[in-house]
Order: sequence, then structure tokens, then C-alpha cells
Amino acid sequence: MVITIDGAGGTGKSSSAKLLAQKLGYLHLNSGTLYRWITYNALQQHLNLHDSDVLLSLAKKLDYQNIDQNMVQSPEVSDNVAQVAKIPSIRELVLEIQRQYAQDKDIVVEGRDIGTVVFPDAEYKFYFTASLDIRAKRRYEQLKKNGLEVDYAQIRQSIADRDKQDMEREHSPLRKADDAIEIPTDMITVEEGVDIILAEMQLLG
Ligand code: DC
Repeated sequence: MVITIDGAGGTGKSSSAKLLAQKLGYLHLNSGTLYRWITYNALQQHLNLHDSDVLLSLAKKLDYQNIDQNMVQSPEVSDNVAQVAKIPSIRELVLEIQRQYAQDKDIVVEGRDIGTVVFPDAEYKFYFTASLDIRAKRRYEQLKKNGLEVDYAQIRQSIADRDKQDMEREHSPLRKADDAIEIPTDMITVEEGVDIILAEMQLLG
């Protein structure tokens, strides 16, 4: 069974996806991490992020089982990942990685295009939303907790820029699937988000 959670950065979908998977005993896949891992490695190797051939050949060689979870959350990766995620050949490769990983598994997959493109036939689909200010505040706290030096105004701007790129790109933009249930998260905790999902799943049967 596949459960999808899509939404912009900072809407709380990662924390809720993780907790939901834990509660159900399902696997959890954060697809943003895959795009971030490619971006991190490309930056490390000083590659041209606009050269799709070079990026694709890098992406094909990477080990996705051992992603450095700390490095991929760096502000430098955050500022460049939307450019990489925009490239159609990279998206196709990541789509295949996700489908292979999820095959025949009980899994919660989160991202931007999971309910629309990657798993359009998923049994349950959710779409998280939150205001820009709340999302920037959450990202700020999260980065600070991870020991990174951060500036709130810069984070807010970076999220707004990324939203624009993710929503306006031609290939599988961030969008709510028609059959996804929208969950606004401004006023709720991670646990409450999960409770809403579990209640909806029971209602949907
Ligand atoms: O969820 P995140 O902030 O870690 O995602 C990082 C970037 O990856 C985001 O700017 C857009 C891209 N992404 C995507 O295009 N499609 C996905 N399914 C997941 C993430």
C-alpha cells in the first residue's frame, strides 16, 4: 500500500510522514532527499547545474542507500536543489528509483509530485499546506537545532524562491492531485497532522 504526502517545503510533511510510517509500521521515503543528494554531490564536484547530461551521468552513479542526511539539508543545497529538480531526465531517473524502491511495499512517500506523477494510483493521498511565515519559522528552527548558522529573512526568501521554481516548472510541478485530501498545518502539530491522516484513512476505508 502506498500513502502519498505532497506539499511545499516546511509544511510539516516530512515530520508527519515519518511519524505516520512509524505508527503504521510502514517504510518512509523522502523523495526530496534524492534530489538533494544529487545536488549536494554536483556542488561538491563543482559541476554546472544547468548541464543536464553531466548531472544525469553523476546521478546514475550515486549510491542512494547511504545519503548523508545532514549535508543534504545545508542552505547551499536548499538554494540549488530546485534547479536540479527541474531537469526532466533527472526527474525520470528519480521517478524510477522511487517506483523500484516502493514496489510491493507498504510505504509512505513524500514530495512534490508523488500523488500526481510518481504514484497516481496510490490508495491514499494527502496534500499539506501552510503559510510562508510559518514554513520559514519551522525551517529556521530545524536548521538551528541541527547546529547550522541561519538567518530568518534569508530562509524565508529562499523558501519563496523555491516555491516559485517548484510550482512553475514545466515537468511535474508542485500541485495537489485532484483526489488528494488537503491538510492545512498552520495551526496543528505533527501528531495532529498524523491523527487527521489516520482518521481520513478510516473514513475512506
Ligand atoms: O522536500 P524538500 O525541501 O527536501 O525538497 C527539495 C527539493 O526537491 C524541492 O525544492 C523540490 C524537489 N522535489 C521535487 O521536485 N519533487 C519531489 N517529489 C520532491 C522534491
